Amino acid sequence: MGEEKSGLETVFGLTGKSALVTGAATGIGREIARLFHRAGAEVIGADINEAGLQSLQQGLGSRVRTVWCDIGDPDSISALFGTVEQLDILVNCAAIYPMRPFEEVDTPLIDRMLDISQVTSGTLPTRVTAASGWGCG
Ligand SMILES: NC(=O)c1ccc[n+]([C@@H]2O[C@H](COP(=O)([O-])OP(=O)(O)OC[C@H]3O[C@@H](n4cnc5c(N)ncnc54)[C@H](O)[C@@H]3O)[C@@H](O)[C@H]2O)c1
Repeated sequence: MGEEKSGLETVFGLTGKSALVTGAATGIGREIARLFHRAGAEVIGADINEAGLQSLQQGLGSRVRTVWCDIGDPDSISALFGTVEQLDILVNCAAIYPMRPFEEVDTPLIDRMLDISQVTSGTLPTRVTAASGWGCG
């Protein structure tokens, strides 16, 4: 007996699609990973939170692969893409937004925030474009 189709999968079927979700260990990224999984997608969840990745993997079981990846580090992104064969969807949810007094916000912190958001490096979109065969921004 196969997996039962959810209403979501019937309407927005993602069967056969591969989705990379960064920041998948917690919060919005985790919920998107779960949603896409329910819609039938193969989900690759990337994050630096190992415990969160492990619980996502355990909760979803099949059609999910979790990968430790620092989205702010081009080498880590390269290692991730070395394991990706097909990619149709990217949801880049990885982020940090540390709450601290303004005078404690320094350039390294801002650089790190921008790197993780891919605002300045753009490494992730470039790799996704190459892996998927279509353009994205
Ligand atoms: N929560 C909100 O109200 C809200 C509102 C608007 C926009 N957003 C945006 O949505 C996104 C997700 O927000 P959230 O509330 O789910 O945050 P969250 O902190 O719950 O999740 C962020 C995830 O990113 C991961 N992460 C951090 N640095 C990483 C790195 N270097 N490499 C890989 N993963 C890394 C964290 O481990 C965490 O699992 C963020 O971009 C945030 O700015 C959130």
